[in-house]
Amino acid sequence: MAIREIRIKGDEILYKNCKTVKSFDKKLHILLDDMYETMQQHNGVGLAAPQVGILKRVVVIDTGDGKIELINPEIVEQSGEQTGSEGCLSVPGVWGEVTRPNVVTVKAQDRDGKWFKLTGEELLARAICHETEHLDGKLFLDRVIKFLE
Ligand code: CO
Repeated sequence: MAIREIRIKGDEILYKNCKTVKSFDKKLHILLDDMYETMQQHNGVGLAAPQVGILKRVVVIDTGDGKIELINPEIVEQSGEQTGSEGCLSVPGVWGEVTRPNVVTVKAQDRDGKWFKLTGEELLARAICHETEHLDGKLFLDRVIKFLE
């Protein structure tokens, strides 16, 4: 495994649309392992592939309950609302209040290509929304209601 360099706000790769993953091969597994290690190194709860310069629809999340890998994720259900502080490893030192659904269900593939559904609430729902948006070239900054000091 290896720590990869995190791309920072302003880097054009963060604003591009990511491609659907079609090969569930060794290369993908290495990317997933590296992303998880990189995220942990920086004490993040989620990381999307474009944040390490890879334009693929790949996300890793760990809100404290273990590793979650989402390949080609798609939010299929959402309900409720939560407003809370949010940050991003690509926007260091900046925190802002963002409103998100309180519960989301995501459909995704695992590292071997098998489809599954996952429902998360509160922080996990927030992380799923935040990371999935990275894959469409969006940063949370666009959603901030109020920046926090
Ligand atoms: Co982020």
